[in-house]
Order: sequence, then C-alpha cells, then structure tokens
Amino acid sequence: MSQTTMQDTRILDGKALSETMKGEIADEVKEWVAAGHPAPHLAAVLIGEDGASRTYVDHKVRSCARVGFESTLIQRTADITQEELLEIVHGLNDDPSIDGFIVQLPLPDHLDAQAVIEAVDPAKDVDGFHPVNMGNLALGLPGFVPATPAGIMTMLERSGIDTQGKHAVVIGRSSIVGTPMSLLLSRSGQPGNCTVTLCHSRTVDLAGHCREADILVAAVGRPEMVKADMVKEGAIVIDVGITRVEDPTAKRGYRLKGDVDYADVAPRCSWITPVPGGVGPMTIVSLLRNTLTAARAKHRA
Ligand code: GUN
Repeated sequence: MSQTTMQDTRILDGKALSETMKGEIADEVKEWVAAGHPAPHLAAVLIGEDGASRTYVDHKVRSCARVGFESTLIQRTADITQEELLEIVHGLNDDPSIDGFIVQLPLPDHLDAQAVIEAVDPAKDVDGFHPVNMGNLALGLPGFVPATPAGIMTMLERSGIDTQGKHAVVIGRSSIVGTPMSLLLSRSGQPGNCTVTLCHSRTVDLAGHCREADILVAAVGRPEMVKADMVKEGAIVIDVGITRVEDPTAKRGYRLKGDVDYADVAPRCSWITPVPGGVGPMTIVSLLRNTLTAARAKHRA
C-alpha cells in the first residue's frame, strides 16, 4: 500500500481564515456605517440550558462585537411555551432595528422547531433554514445559505481547491448541514460541479462509498467514526462533527471530538480540517456575512 507522509497533508485552518474574513467584514461595516447606515444588528434566541448551544451562541454574539455589529441575546428557560417562543419570533420579524436573527437549535423536545423556523421572516433568516431559503438553495437562486455548509464552500474556495468533476461524499442528511452541503457541492460553479453521494443511517456499505470520495464531508456527530481505511489516498476531508466527550483530565471536563479520527486519517489526506479550529469558526463568519447581506438588502429595499 502506498503511503503519504504528514508533510503532504495540508491543514484547512478555519480559525486563521475566519480571522482574515472577520477583518474583511469589519472593514465593510466601517464603510457601511461611515455612509450613514446603522451597524448591522443580529439577534440570537437561546432556549434552555444546553451547554454546547450556550457556547455557540456566546461565540456568535462575541463575533458580532469583533466586526462592529450590534447584537442582542434573548434567553429564555426551557419551560417556555410554543406560543411564547413564536411571539418572540414575530417580535423580531417586526422589529425594524433587527437585520437578522437565529433561534439556536436544538430546541427542548416539547417545542416544534419546524414551526418556529417557518415563522421566521425569510428576509431575516440568516441561518437559511426557512423553506423559502432552502428552496432557493435547491433551485440555485439567491438566498441565505445555512452557515456551516456556506463556511465549508468558502474554505474550499479560499484555499484554491479545485472541486470540478470530483466525487464528493457527504455523510449525514440533516437539514442544517448534510442536505444543503450536497446541494452546494453539486451546483454549477467553483467550488461546485461535484458528483455527489449523500450517505445516511440506512446507507449500505458506508465505508465503501467513503473510499470512493475525492472530497469527504462527515456531518453525523459520531466522534471519530471515520477511520483511515474509509478514506482514499489524497482525499480532502472535511470534519463537521463537534461532540463533547467527557475527559476528567481536560480543563473543562470534556474534549471536543470530530467525526474523523484525525490522527489516523490525516496522513492519508491532501487536505483536512482540524477540530476545533476547522469548520466551526467558518460557520460563525458565514453567519456574520449573511447578516451583513441582510442589512444591505433591507436598506436597498
Ligand atoms: N445548531 C447547530 N448548528 C446551528 C446553526 O447553524 N444555527 C442554529 N440556529 N442552530 C444550530
């Protein structure tokens, strides 16, 4: 079996790229504000006490300050009713000072997340989860693209990775990542023009499909499930997983693990994203980009 060495593997450094892109957004915001517009304003709704959701939302809110956005965090306890949550959503839809907002998922089980998503004004849906934005994505029309797959596309683009005609295998068919990712990779364009296989829990011979991938995107939330024997030599591997795994020796009592067994897989890859510091920071920068787009669209209207 031929082997590549670690020296051949390049890291897709989402942290560094996201810092560069936040600098670019901050410059655009300065110009936007200097031209007499209000700073873009993102609101985030956080329901309940989920630690990971809290961390994500904190990062999103902190990143707003970094690029000169206004931000508002709306927090409610897990016992909120569907009606109360919908009232918050309607309030944000109607609030002219808010350019875009997100409701952090997952929601507590008693709430109907789909109904909440459908209540968001598509023009303020900077998560890109509303059926109107999802439909636009499927049709290749302009609209908000969900932040995680958008961030991955940007990472491929800015790293100069040629995706034309490549076979992309996406593991996971979630509405947030896997499904939009498969659409974006198959779209005409660069990055894009991939032949896409979308794998999921009922896929027969997952490892066999993965071994055929020039580009492998793992988005299932199962720590280290992708092993070296599932990866083609020279593949580009994108790890969307970010699961907290208990570790008493870690400062916070847990460690973040991706869906890819990094130490095992990295030597086989041409490119790989680390966890943390790969896809996660790109998700946040895409959300900021969507919010700036929403602010610009509102003022053009
Ligand atoms: N939960 C996990 N990822 C996301 C995201 O991109 N947006 C929201 N709102 N919730 C999430």
